[in-house]
Amino acid sequence: MPEFMEPFRIKAVEPIPFPTTDERREALDRAGHNLFRVPASAITIDLLTDSGTSAMSAAQWAALLSGDESYAGARSFENFETVVRDLTGYDEVLPVHQGRAAERILLGTVLAPGEVSISNTHFDTTRAAVESTGATAVDLPVSQRSPSAFGGDLDLASLRAWLGGADGSRVRCVVLTVTNNATGGQPVSLSNIAKTRELCDRYGVMLLLDASRFAENAYLISERESGHSHRSPREVAQLVFALADGCWASLKKDGMANIGGMIAVRDGELARRCREQLIAFEGFPTYGGLAGRDLDALAQGLLEVTDPAYLEYRAKTARWFGEKLAEAGLPVLQPTGCHAVYVDAGELLPNVPPHQLPATALANELYLAGAVRVSDLGTLVFGRATAHGEDIAAPRELVRFALPRRVYTKSHLEYVAETAAAVAAKAGQIAGYGIVEQAESLRHFTAVLRPLDRPVDRTPASERPART
Ligand code: F0G
Repeated sequence: MPEFMEPFRIKAVEPIPFPTTDERREALDRAGHNLFRVPASAITIDLLTDSGTSAMSAAQWAALLSGDESYAGARSFENFETVVRDLTGYDEVLPVHQGRAAERILLGTVLAPGEVSISNTHFDTTRAAVESTGATAVDLPVSQRSPSAFGGDLDLASLRAWLGGADGSRVRCVVLTVTNNATGGQPVSLSNIAKTRELCDRYGVMLLLDASRFAENAYLISERESGHSHRSPREVAQLVFALADGCWASLKKDGMANIGGMIAVRDGELARRCREQLIAFEGFPTYGGLAGRDLDALAQGLLEVTDPAYLEYRAKTARWFGEKLAEAGLPVLQPTGCHAVYVDAGELLPNVPPHQLPATALANELYLAGAVRVSDLGTLVFGRATAHGEDIAAPRELVRFALPRRVYTKSHLEYVAETAAAVAAKAGQIAGYGIVEQAESLRHFTAVLRPLDRPVDRTPASERPART
């Protein structure tokens, strides 16, 4: 028996494109050297995101056909509500079209100007939702300096200091993002969630979950945290939900479907206020911007996602793929989580300084070498331009190889690892990029870039690899 294999067989297939070397170069040129602008028809393996990219099961496709498209009170909503209530234990269930709509509605209802939201890390859309209310988003992740089984945890000492400090009364909510996408997809432990709950109770603060990857977090708890190995991922997820006052989720991840999101809370009055916003901006509360068939596919996906065999395969895939990329010569962040493998481009390309965008350079090289698309989480994304127009370097030049759910097989990932090996072998010759055009916010989606002819090589001449 191999250590793991896909716990499904393939029923519908989709051809993938194999652009030639010249076509890849041309596609990247035409896209202004920005992978977001490259058409999917020029991508062989697309690891840009695990969001909305899942393959649905036969049962989900069947559920689609039974969708009830009634405007109000559709059967599809009842199915969805039953599944979400059973999973979370929260009575109030509101569907929305995707995660950021949930964030805008829930956080827009909970927060007021001058208040504070504290998180293990607000995902970028979450931060935007907090800031749009006039509140402040404060991130308190545990130190990322040494590898840890629960690198997604919230720093409890800092939380205690905040809550007991001069500005403590401004803190309105604590948000735990499970798993923590911004810190390498690492899980949050059950003990960290329980201790956060205690502190929230002591100071009268609401505890919310960004549960977009709740099933992967639950699996990693059952695998890594002592005292929980006898529990199923669903039981662990239920323990986690029981500790919070409510949650939201982008169901484009662990909902195993291509669109959808939700808000689920205990408090009927909070739900009533959210529903008013839902009606104004998303749709009637029994469809929330989705089709009835989407709700049925999500209800089925939320049942399938906690299957232990699926989650074990998913975690083992990420671990195995991380090992393959490390063997290929890439500096891989350890331990791996489930939804992605993260690589430190700054370490691979020490001769490309942050303002020459090493993460972008690595991502673009992977595209040129094999039409593999990954996402850049470096200075192009997180570097903020100063008043003088210079960038402040991102804390780390990360590149994310996201793993769409049930889409790519081991041999597809072997191809990615081979492509990565070809890129790593010529790391010393990879040049950085300059920015030609950029938007004021979220510049990475649309920026136009230019490859720099020569990297600024900071390594001593004696240690430089020969250029070909
Ligand atoms: N919260 C987390 C933790 C996320 O990872 C995302 C999206 C969202 C909220 C927003 O949800 O896209 O449905 O509006 N993450 C995607 C990614 C985009 O690639 O990691 P959305």
